[in-house]
Amino acid sequence: MASKSHPAQDAVSLLEEDHKRVKDLFNEFKKFAETEDNEYVELKQELMNVVCDELKVHTTIEEEIFYPAVRKALPDEAALLNEAEVEHAGAKDLIAQIETSKASDPMTCAKFTVLGEYIDHHVKEEENDMFPKVRKSGMDLDKLGAKMAARQAELKKDRPNFDSPSGNPMMLSLFDRIRDVGLSVMR
Ligand SMILES: [Fe+2]
Ligand SMILES: [Fe+2]
Repeated sequence: MASKSHPAQDAVSLLEEDHKRVKDLFNEFKKFAETEDNEYVELKQELMNVVCDELKVHTTIEEEIFYPAVRKALPDEAALLNEAEVEHAGAKDLIAQIETSKASDPMTCAKFTVLGEYIDHHVKEEENDMFPKVRKSGMDLDKLGAKMAARQAELKKDRPNFDSPSGNPMMLSLFDRIRDVGLSVMR
């Protein structure tokens, strides 16, 4: 059952909210991506860690729960689902490379920027093509959303880059610090 702090979401809204959160973080990164001052390296590292973790959880719930359910409901859309899974594999490859290198290396920042472009393309295909078809399919998106939220909470538990499944003070404090750094970049 949904708690007050974390209202129930249908499957598509849950995924769209994840997309928005990650997009905001990639946009924040752009503000100081090319700044090589040590002062910003730690923040870049933290942002990269959070985004990579967010993306790993997101792709896992899509691959374990959402995509199989869509395949079943929309058997004619196999090609769309195959393409999405190939794109996930490409993103995971980049994530693995980013996770084993440091934000102080400009190549890591370049990889992260490319990952952002890659995710942007993938998200557009999901939101503009796949999700409208899913919404029209008559699938029980509330039930699916509840299952995905439970799995998401389980995956986020015990991960250093997340605090609790509902609300995310750590993320809020990261945004506050980015704002502070952003102000000093502009000065
Ligand atoms: Fe996806
Ligand atoms: Fe997605």
